[in-house]
Amino acid sequence: MKITFRIQRYNPEKDAKPYFQDYTLDGLEGTYRVLDALHDIKWKLDGTLTFRRSCAHGMCGSDGMKINGKNTLACSLLLQDIKGIGDGKVVTIEPLPYLPIVKDLVIEMGDFYKKYELVKPYLITKTPPPEMERYQSNEDAELLMESTKCIMCACCTTSCPSLWSNENYLGPAAILKGYRFAFDTRDEGAQEHMAALDSADGIWRCHTIFNCVEACPKEINITWHISQLKKKLVADEM
Ligand code: SF4
Ligand code: F3S
Ligand code: FES
Repeated sequence: MKITFRIQRYNPEKDAKPYFQDYTLDGLEGTYRVLDALHDIKWKLDGTLTFRRSCAHGMCGSDGMKINGKNTLACSLLLQDIKGIGDGKVVTIEPLPYLPIVKDLVIEMGDFYKKYELVKPYLITKTPPPEMERYQSNEDAELLMESTKCIMCACCTTSCPSLWSNENYLGPAAILKGYRFAFDTRDEGAQEHMAALDSADGIWRCHTIFNCVEACPKEINITWHISQLKKKLVADEM
């Protein structure tokens, strides 16, 4: 297959605004990944192209970007899985939306991590450590299993219209992390996680739009987790 990759370029030190640049690669198999294309373009055609990646296997979360209009991981998307792909087609690649662009496909993640920290994303304990480990049953661990698959790629949060209309909204990734600890049966600081989650810019700003679930490359049902937090907060107040 011959495919043209239409990539959004932007160097804030030189460019007045973002623009698209086309790169065409030939002889591509269906199993070629979008990240392979970015590598080939950078290594063989244009060394100035800038993007993040690390593991190349869907584990580190560093290569979230918008490909043909959908937030996803470049390393996890094969050409054959792109709808309508074929010889002569165009694949459009943009940075994740909403967050500021550092350069080309690299976005500034500071705001994303600031909100993550607000939910206190760690186990809070008040009692002295037991002689052995803090016990957790398989059933209790199961409650958390799906939420622990999150790799912090920001595909969900940057796709959320509630965030686009309110920059202070925590966003689905931070809320999911809040769930992961507030529902951990070993945790003794639920109120501390809940303080940010139950704030004016917390979970009540989620209007169950589901863009986050559509965008999540780990297929986490984030909206379900947000609904469990809402139920917990209502139950705790009764
Ligand atoms: Fe990425 Fe999914 Fe985690 Fe959101 S919930 S940051 S989309 S892995
Ligand atoms: Fe946003 Fe997902 Fe809620 S897209 S509004 S966090 S369901
Ligand atoms: Fe690590 Fe894609 S490069 S998730």
